[in-house]
Amino acid sequence: MLRWSAAARSGDGIVEVEPGVWLVTDPGETERLLASRDATTARTGGRTPPTSWGPDGLATWMAVRSAMRPVLAVPGIAAAADQARRIVAGTPAPGEVDAVALSVRLVSAVTARHLLGEPSDVLPPLVERELVLAGRARSPLGRLRLRHAQRATRTAILAHVRNTSSPDGLPAVLAERGFDEHTVTSAVRTMLLSGHHVPATALAWALHELATHPDVQRDARAEALAHAGPTADLPLCRAVLRETLRLHPPVWRLRRRLVAPVRDLPAGADLLFSPYLNHRAPDRWSEPSRFRPRRWTGDFRPAPGTYLPFALGPRTCPAARPALAQLTVVLAAVLRAHHLDPHRAPVPTFDVLHAPRRLRLRLRPVAAEPRT
Ligand code: HEM
Repeated sequence: MLRWSAAARSGDGIVEVEPGVWLVTDPGETERLLASRDATTARTGGRTPPTSWGPDGLATWMAVRSAMRPVLAVPGIAAAADQARRIVAGTPAPGEVDAVALSVRLVSAVTARHLLGEPSDVLPPLVERELVLAGRARSPLGRLRLRHAQRATRTAILAHVRNTSSPDGLPAVLAERGFDEHTVTSAVRTMLLSGHHVPATALAWALHELATHPDVQRDARAEALAHAGPTADLPLCRAVLRETLRLHPPVWRLRRRLVAPVRDLPAGADLLFSPYLNHRAPDRWSEPSRFRPRRWTGDFRPAPGTYLPFALGPRTCPAARPALAQLTVVLAAVLRAHHLDPHRAPVPTFDVLHAPRRLRLRLRPVAAEPRT
């Protein structure tokens, strides 16, 4: 990250950071290059789609992406609110919590419920185990454990695909469009894995920002309490998430391979983009390092290429819209139940994700708040 920041400060919007690898920070070029279908459909260096898609993998995945749109178009707000309320109610307060673990519990349950069209107690823990082991698979034993975990997830998803009776879930929608069982299983796996740590990390950062900005927390809670029913129409809660994703985009770097030459850049060149750097560019954002959710209220629209927490272009996050709506609902559920106080400050990491490692918060029940 430090090396990238220095390259970005050089003032050139595109800098060759190692032979054949260019870092793109100019917002206009970011937008143009990421959105260019011919140039950057090929992702490199990432983990999603993380499953085997066979020899025509990319073509199959792109077909699945467009076939799953009906499921993603309906974020399932009432179901998300219900899942979130149950988990929040089961979180003891007053007390201290591991904010990342709580966020994973909340988000993985909501994602699974949304994608499957019904709740699942089985799949989220298997996905969690697989992702944790993926981060530790550095020794032969680690890789063996990962392979076992991958097999267990896949077997459980296949059993779900065969037995589900939900007509609204991804399995039924994809099967109806003619995809075979292997492809449906891979699609569900890709979505469950991708919809697990990334949105949970975003939620954990949002809880941290609210704990350290009590005035914003108070106003966001008042908004949530004023709308007790399941709704994502909560402008301040949504603005909190947008601003959190600006300051802390979990996917802090993107990598694309040019499949056709673009201006001076040859086909085969690797392009790096950093949402993190673009989101904090001092010439594009006022007070770039400050948490100011209210910048998102009203008509504010960021300039092209300056805000890309979900990436851009053909490989943009397919779940951006439902994810933001669901996170809004989940955040509101947490705020209605608990006051959030800082307990242990996070260690920001820039590994696979930009994450708040070791973040702990203190929860106090909202009802226990002394009246003033
Ligand atoms: C705050 C929440 C989320 C954020 C910030 C986010 C961000 C992103 C970003 C930046 C990418 C592009 C990654 C790259 O090019 O290397 C991506 C891809 C993806 N996301 Fe999300 N995501 C979120 C939630 C979700 C959820 C909830 C799901 C599933 C339900 C999901 C599924 C995917 C998938 C499958 C891809 C791969 C797309 C492809 O390669 O064609 N994401 N996401």
